[in-house]
Amino acid sequence: VREPDLTGRHVVVSAGGTREPLDPVRFLGNRSSGKQGYALARTAVARGARVTLIAANTALPDPAGADVVRVETALQLREAVLKAAADADAVVMAAAVADFRPASYATGKIKKKDDQEPEPLALVRNPDILAEISADRARPGQVIVGFAAETDDVLANGRRKLARKGCDLLVVNEVGERRTFGAEENEAVVLAADGGETPVPHGPKEALAETVWDLVAARLG
Ligand code: C5P
Repeated sequence: VREPDLTGRHVVVSAGGTREPLDPVRFLGNRSSGKQGYALARTAVARGARVTLIAANTALPDPAGADVVRVETALQLREAVLKAAADADAVVMAAAVADFRPASYATGKIKKKDDQEPEPLALVRNPDILAEISADRARPGQVIVGFAAETDDVLANGRRKLARKGCDLLVVNEVGERRTFGAEENEAVVLAADGGETPVPHGPKEALAETVWDLVAARLG
């Protein structure tokens, strides 16, 4: 157990994965369980922070002591993050946000007609929330953390992504068929905009969460 070094701080954590609806019964989604974000929320509460957890489609119990805001889509997640970030000392974007959403939403269930060829699915880009809050900080000195799941060339891609997003820290982990998504454990490297590189050995998602808060607390001073 760490010192209550986040006492008096407000931190925002996004968790889970967005769902982008096609019609009332179908959506485009991803395999994020939300476990890493919930571990971040629990450990921040234990370290004394006021925690706003923005949860996208998770099937996990609310962490004790956190304010939980439930959302479904990337646009809803964006609204909730911007609102909560206004007075936050740190924002950690652990949620898997869909890069694209269907260009249109059918208010009735889309039906297949006999002998009809499938229509291509038109998509539009979602806003990049992490890049947006990093470029336009709600507060001077606010610490912003992103996550990146990479399948190859993990560190080089991570460095490029950190620069592109403009956040302070980027947690990079390698994903594959049976790694990370839905698992209890994680292995990662935390890259810092100031050049720092903190490897986190394979272990519980809590351990990675504690390392993230160590790095955030050091930057908050
Ligand atoms: O670009 P990529 O999806 O790999 O970046 C992942 C990071 O960016 C995560 O921290 C995720 O929460 C955030 N993100 C976002 N808005 C998007 C896509 C990703 O904030 N539209």
